Amino acid sequence: MNYNLLKGKKGIIFGALDENSIAWKTAERIYEEGGKFVLTNAPIALRMGEINELAKKTNSQIIPADATSIEDLNNLVEKSMEILGGKLDFILHSIGMSVNVRKGKPYTDQNYDWTHKGWDVSAVSFHKTMQTLYQKDAMNEWGSIVALTYMAAQRVFPDYNDMADNKAYLESIARSFGYFFGKDKKVRVNTISQSPTPTTAGQGVKGFDGFINYAEKMAPLGNATALDCANYTVAMFSDLTKKVTLQNLYNDGGFSNMGVSNEVIDAFSKK
Ligand SMILES: NC(=O)c1ccc[n+]([C@@H]2O[C@H](COP(=O)([O-])OP(=O)(O)OC[C@H]3O[C@@H](n4cnc5c(N)ncnc54)[C@H](O)[C@@H]3O)[C@@H](O)[C@H]2O)c1
Repeated sequence: MNYNLLKGKKGIIFGALDENSIAWKTAERIYEEGGKFVLTNAPIALRMGEINELAKKTNSQIIPADATSIEDLNNLVEKSMEILGGKLDFILHSIGMSVNVRKGKPYTDQNYDWTHKGWDVSAVSFHKTMQTLYQKDAMNEWGSIVALTYMAAQRVFPDYNDMADNKAYLESIARSFGYFFGKDKKVRVNTISQSPTPTTAGQGVKGFDGFINYAEKMAPLGNATALDCANYTVAMFSDLTKKVTLQNLYNDGGFSNMGVSNEVIDAFSKK
């Protein structure tokens, strides 16, 4: 379905790696809704080249940027405004990476250089992105900024490891920067807390298969897919959500408010 919700809107999409990425699906949906954008990812992620296909499909240009580098972010924001012809209306931060998770280091035996790197990539990069946009006055009034997060920021999911702490920090940045962006520029800032989703980042979490199946059985509406997340983000970038800001918005089929479901009780009952 296409409602032309983003006609005339321009923005930047971080984090499309391959066709499973939440950012990939979101770029496709934004394009269908009439939005124009620049795609960006870390130079190393661009080397695989899959993003070229998405750029072609959505008539967009790619600008490499390591989201932890202020120099790269300055270049990205300036070039994006040149390419798109003016200030921006939407930003999607869809970035996450934990070196401890990648290298199999448990939460109780962290390598703190890796903890620091993951925190910078997964959380502080959101502050750096917003500070760059804010200082360059790069956002139009009533623009919208969204970052993706996970419920391990509020509740314990043991194998989510240091990403749980990174997501808690990310959500706090959304509120803190959202205050200044709201007051000074009339721009809203929110996080969307998404169901487990089979992507490169998602599947990197130990026990992901058990985890996603459990969430599916707990959530009354079942897990939200990457496409569901893309649709929610389109709504958040549209003019229909102008006064929603400083929120952590659950897109999880109801999982976050469940205690237990009948399916899960059945799975544990003695037959
Ligand atoms: N998959 C899930 O289960 C799930 C659930 C909730 C939230 N999320 C969040 O959704 C977002 C997108 O992840 P995804 O699941 O689509 O996986 P993904 O692996 O497709 O996307 C993660 C992206 O982060 C990018 N990235 C890593 N380091 C970077 C850097 N230094 N600079 C710029 N980009 C960098 C990667 O290149 C990749 O494109 C992440 O924030 C993730 O934590 C995912």
